[in-house]
Amino acid sequence: MKDLIAKVKSNQMIAENTYMITFVLPESAGDIRGGQFVNLSVGDSSHLLRRPLGICIAEGKEISVCYQLKGEGTKKLSKIKTGDSLNVLLPLGNGFDLSGYKNIAVIGGGVGIFPLIAAIRENIKHKNFYSYIGFRSKSALCLINEFDKCKSLTVTTDDGSYGKSGNAVDAFFEDVQNLNLDAIIACGPPSMLKSLKEKLLKNAIDVPCFVSLEERMGCGVGACLVCVCKKNDGNNARVCKDGPVFNINDVVL
Ligand SMILES: Cc1cc2nc3c(=O)[nH]c(=O)nc-3n(C[C@H](O)[C@H](O)[C@H](O)COP(=O)(O)OP(=O)(O)OC[C@H]3O[C@@H](n4cnc5c(N)ncnc54)[C@H](O)[C@@H]3O)c2cc1C
Ligand code: FES
Repeated sequence: MKDLIAKVKSNQMIAENTYMITFVLPESAGDIRGGQFVNLSVGDSSHLLRRPLGICIAEGKEISVCYQLKGEGTKKLSKIKTGDSLNVLLPLGNGFDLSGYKNIAVIGGGVGIFPLIAAIRENIKHKNFYSYIGFRSKSALCLINEFDKCKSLTVTTDDGSYGKSGNAVDAFFEDVQNLNLDAIIACGPPSMLKSLKEKLLKNAIDVPCFVSLEERMGCGVGACLVCVCKKNDGNNARVCKDGPVFNINDVVL
């Protein structure tokens, strides 16, 4: 993990309320795995806020993350301009470990698609991906070209304004019996992950399923315990350090 001052290359709107910021690191951050994240400092030194964002694209020293406008932090981030400096802590968390799996279903909802893009980019040469990505509506659609290299891609919108009407989890379950899967990876809102877990159980599908969780975070490095989640064995886990990727059967959703 490195604490670096990066130079912003671009910060552009890519969909309604959603931006991609690309920054250049002064030195390599080492190997980066899809599902790992950065903790970005936004604002001036008197009012620094750190915000966790999944790494979407990592090409050498150039890193892109995408964010939806939510509150104070992401609003400040959207004002950052080309040439500005950005304090970044990276890479954080464990990421998706796909070694040993060949045929992988990818299920993403909303901003949850971003870390999945990094996992696909990293593994596309050697693995088959079957993607199901869902958005609220056509105006929220972004980066679907990143999923073009997958063996198959289904895009859903809640309001039916683009692709298949409905959500990505239901679209996946329509196809699951025809896919010879070794693993599933997923990232999205808690309700989406909960529904995925329930339906895997109901349909007796015991393919390993790895989910990336979102929790409110402070330090991002395991020290403050702001981000703990409950595990099925009764213990707690730190999402920033022990995760954010967990086996879906190990965590309470
Ligand atoms: C590992 C990880 C990866 C993430 N990747 C992405 C991504 O790629 N794109 C994206 O748009 N969002 C992502 N998020 C969510 C993102 O961190 C929050 O939307 C963002 O921090 C909101 O900050 P804010 O100041 O604009 O909102 P505010 O509501 O003002 O935030 C207040 C506080 O709550 C925290 N917070 C608010 N919402 C969330 C949330 N959903 N998850 C975690 N902390 C939250 C903030 O960090 C801050 O401490 C990720 C979260 C985690 C934990
Ligand atoms: S954010 Fe501090 S321990 Fe996870």
